[in-house]
Amino acid sequence: MRYQLYFVLLLSYVITSCGVVSTNEHRCIGFNSCMCKSSVGIIDISALANKNGTARFRDIPSPDAAQSTVSWNPCYPFSDGTYQAMACYNVSGCVVHYAAGMFWYYSLGTQQSATFITDATRGLGIYYNTTEQGGRSLFVQLQCDPKVEADFGVSPDDPYVDNTFYFTLRSRWTCPDPHRN
Ligand SMILES: *[C@@H]1O[C@H](CO)[C@@H](O)[C@H](O)[C@H]1NC(C)=O
Ligand SMILES: *[C@@H]1O[C@H](CO)[C@@H](O)[C@H](O)[C@H]1NC(C)=O
Ligand SMILES: *[C@@H]1O[C@H](CO)[C@@H](O)[C@H](O)[C@H]1NC(C)=O
Repeated sequence: MRYQLYFVLLLSYVITSCGVVSTNEHRCIGFNSCMCKSSVGIIDISALANKNGTARFRDIPSPDAAQSTVSWNPCYPFSDGTYQAMACYNVSGCVVHYAAGMFWYYSLGTQQSATFITDATRGLGIYYNTTEQGGRSLFVQLQCDPKVEADFGVSPDDPYVDNTFYFTLRSRWTCPDPHRN
């Protein structure tokens, strides 16, 4: 009986978050860079994180004009471009741009910068930012899909605005777990 109730709550959340209705009513308060708590349960994406200093999601073509790629790792820092003069050290996200015969690396913020926010149009996401190298930021929209392990890509609507890169993570790990709260 309790489980049935949980299931109904979860199902209604899934329907709400995948439909036109936004998830604004389900604010999720961040504990750390990896986990947040909403009224319908905990979201914990640590299962998707690499723990060895590499990025789980690597070299995804980015939506900016510079033919760059973006890498992202949830929860734990990673480094990229170790042998280059300019590199990303201990970041949560990194943009790589190839120009003038070399690779240029730009941080998208550290794990310490991670903030769970509920954006009015994009819904729940994790926002990372930095003031280094002119300042860039990354917003990873969290979309619950119980059938998908992890699908990370450029957000379809306005994917690059004012030095902010908008990506979407569709995953079963972004569904709130009603058994943990
Ligand atoms: C880091 O960990 C990931 C996930 O476990 C693994 O696929 C990858 O090969 C590892 N990379 C290195 C350099 O150890
Ligand atoms: C990155 O983190 C490692 C491990 O904590 C540390 O040894 C290193 O100094 C850091 N590098 C930078 C540039 O912050
Ligand atoms: C990141 O953004 C937040 C909220 O807009 C702001 O308060 C903070 O100062 C920014 N941090 C950096 C490192 O830019």
